[in-house]
Amino acid sequence: MKKTGILLAAMALLLGGCAAKEETAVQEPAEAVQETNEPEQTPEPAVTESKTLLIYFSRAGENWEVGVVEKGNTRIAAEYIAEATGADVYEIIPAVPYPSDYMETVALAEEEKSAGARPEIASAPENWDSYDTVILGYPIWHGDLPMIVYTFLESYDFTGKTVYPFNTHGGSGLAGTPDKIRNTIPAADVKDGLALTGKIVQNDFAQIQGDIDAWLQKNNLSK
Ligand SMILES: Cc1cc2nc3c(=O)[nH]c(=O)nc-3n(C[C@H](O)[C@H](O)[C@H](O)COP(=O)(O)O)c2cc1C
Repeated sequence: MKKTGILLAAMALLLGGCAAKEETAVQEPAEAVQETNEPEQTPEPAVTESKTLLIYFSRAGENWEVGVVEKGNTRIAAEYIAEATGADVYEIIPAVPYPSDYMETVALAEEEKSAGARPEIASAPENWDSYDTVILGYPIWHGDLPMIVYTFLESYDFTGKTVYPFNTHGGSGLAGTPDKIRNTIPAADVKDGLALTGKIVQNDFAQIQGDIDAWLQKNNLSK
């Protein structure tokens, strides 16, 4: 009897509250629940650093089918992917810049490839160990990764990291580069790559954006 009386009184109070504040009635129980569970709902500490690092190499200047450009094709794609994923960004910058002349770069890159050169990189990424996911962007040079990308891959420990490669090219597609990356960093889990035609990235990005979005979504990389 006593319990029934309390229950009725509580219902009367609740109904009174509803009548007086109809608009907020639905929210009140939620607030009450929130107060009760307050210790469990303490927000996670703010994530100040993304766990994904986007690494890319790209060259501005004169290039295949695009003329002289201010931003390299891979860089354009990289900037879009960084925005779409919220990844931190590290650019592989050569200690000695490549010529802006296309044919000079082609000749130099050919020499580097046949010599198995490892061109020096100007700076190192910060907090390497804090990243578990790497998105790696590069152009195809002579059917391969540019040698400076190998410099990078061979310089850092990829144990426990998952790598998502993407490239821009003038017709060669992936050119088998995901396997070359796998062979270079066997400690990493290297996923299938995304190949983007360089001149479309440079001149008609809207045409290729959907391919990038689909690849990011398929791999759960979108933010
Ligand atoms: C040295 C050099 C070699 C290249 N070799 C190839 C190649 O073998 N196959 C291909 O499809 N494109 C090749 N290209 C074209 C580039 O892959 C393409 O233009 C790419 O989008 C350039 O990216 P970037 O502007 O970010 O440097 C080559 C370009 C250069 C400069």
